[in-house]
Amino acid sequence: MAEKIDGKQIAEDVVAKVKAGAADLLAESGVTPGLAVVIVGEDPASQVYVASKSKKAKECGFFSDQHTLPEDTSEADLLALIAKLNANKRIHGILVQLPLPAHIDSGKVIQTIAPEKDVDGFHFINVGKLGTGELDTAFVPCTPAGSMLLIERVRGKDLSGLSAVVIGRSNIVGKPMANLLLAANCTVTIAHSRTRDIAALARTADILVAAVGRPEIVKGDWVKHGATVVDVGINRVPAPEKGEGKSRLVGDVAYEEAEQNAGAITPVPGGVGPMTIAMLMANTLASACRSAGREPPKL
Ligand code: GUN
Repeated sequence: MAEKIDGKQIAEDVVAKVKAGAADLLAESGVTPGLAVVIVGEDPASQVYVASKSKKAKECGFFSDQHTLPEDTSEADLLALIAKLNANKRIHGILVQLPLPAHIDSGKVIQTIAPEKDVDGFHFINVGKLGTGELDTAFVPCTPAGSMLLIERVRGKDLSGLSAVVIGRSNIVGKPMANLLLAANCTVTIAHSRTRDIAALARTADILVAAVGRPEIVKGDWVKHGATVVDVGINRVPAPEKGEGKSRLVGDVAYEEAEQNAGAITPVPGGVGPMTIAMLMANTLASACRSAGREPPKL
């Protein structure tokens, strides 16, 4: 039976280090890390995410600056807000919650954020730094960065000789995840909807990352004996056994089957999920440290 990787506990460790790092930065350089979170519109899921990001920032001792804009905000007004935040010395991290309303060009908005404040790691400069292995000065997107930390806790930092398969090729998870695994010396394959025989490919993986957003698509017999399985999916599915109209969260991996073969596996919920916000805090602290000419704490 596989070891269950406790993302909640590891995220708490990260947040504790971030709190301590923020206190040191304030004591030694007089700088308080500042995180601006911008949300446009009323999407309930986004509201929940944004509220928890702002709350965690306060808990870390940061200056938390939330901007909640109406659904009909113009692109020009949003760009003007970002320009103001770019110029604001109290702000070290800027996050614009996605998705944005359809009348706003998300790509344009993201590329307007100053790369040195882009704590989501979505700006081309940060994507390029990750792709070229400039990890010391890049911002890495929070979900793959958090997934990597979970893998390191099981396998160590150097993954030489291991084969990794990432299922999913999104810009937010799949591609940056593959780059991180490559930087750690894995042999990496990215699988996606057009890949032939994903099951057979997945079975070759010492490290298997599922990031497709389809409930329990990765079956137990896709998992090699002893593999480390990281499940990035968060899917809400009907749960009639809990009562009428009830639902539950499942990952992209059929957990009960996969844990029979895996060496270690992340649960859903309580695996990758809690790591995402923790890494956002870590990125914001890193940005504030860099702005003060200091080395960010090691996680
Ligand atoms: N929406 C869902 N995930 C994310 C994320 O990681 N960053 C931002 N900005 N928006 C999101």
